[in-house]
Amino acid sequence: MERITIAIDGYSSCGKSTLAKALAKALDYVYVDSGAMYRAVTLYFLNHQVDIRDEEAVKLALKNISISFKNIKGKNTTFLNQQNVEHEIRTMQVSNFVSPVAAIPIVRRKVVRQQREMGKEKGIVMDGRDIGTVVFKDAELKIFLVADPDIRAERRYRELLAKGLDVERKAIKANLLERDHIDSTRADSPLRQAEDAIVIDNSFLNEQEQLSKALILAQERINSKARL
Ligand code: DC
Repeated sequence: MERITIAIDGYSSCGKSTLAKALAKALDYVYVDSGAMYRAVTLYFLNHQVDIRDEEAVKLALKNISISFKNIKGKNTTFLNQQNVEHEIRTMQVSNFVSPVAAIPIVRRKVVRQQREMGKEKGIVMDGRDIGTVVFKDAELKIFLVADPDIRAERRYRELLAKGLDVERKAIKANLLERDHIDSTRADSPLRQAEDAIVIDNSFLNEQEQLSKALILAQERINSKARL
C-alpha cells in the first residue's frame, strides 16, 4: 500500500495528539509529537538555567541536546539525552516557558531538521504548529484541528488531573490563550492554517468521530497516490 505523510496542526490542547496517535495506530504509521521536542529543549534550558536572550548560550546548549522517542509499553515516550522525560515535559513549569523557547529560530532549525529526517520514509503522522506549513509542506494530507477555547481548557484540566498534577482551571485557560498568542504571532514559522489544509472542528466530536473523519481523508489520499 502507498504510504503518505500526514500533518496535523492547531492551537494548544485541541486534541491533536489524540487524533494523531489514533490515526497512526489505524494506519500502522509512525507517530511523532513535535511539541514534545520543543518541551524537551525547554526542560533542558530550565534545568541548566540557559538564558534564552543569550544566543551563544542557546547555541552551546543545543549542541548538548539529543532528543529521541521510544515506544514503552505501547506509549510514545520522549527521551532527553537518554533519560525518560515524558512526565517532566508535561508540567506547567515547562508549559509556561515552552512558547518563548519555540520562538527562537536556532531552536526551530535544530528541531525541524530532526523532524524531516524522521519523516523521510513517509508513513508518518506528525502533530504540531508548523507541520503543514514548514516541516512537511508537501504532506499529502494536512489537517487543521480547531476547538472552542473553553472546551480545550476543560479537556486539558481533566488530562492533567488524571496524571495526578495539581492544577487550576483558570491557570490552564490563561496558559492556553497565552501560548496561542505567542505561537501564532512569532516571526519564525507562526501557527497558521496551510492553504491546502482541511479544517476539522472537534468541539462536539468524540475521539471515534474525529478519527473516522480523518481516516476517510487519509484513505482518499492513499488511493489517489496509488492511482498516480
Ligand atoms: O503541542 P504542545 O502543546 O505540546 O507544544 C508545546 C509548544 O511547542 C507549543 O506551545 C508551541 C511549540 N510548538 C511549535 O512551536 N511547533 C510545533 N511544531 C510544535 C509545538
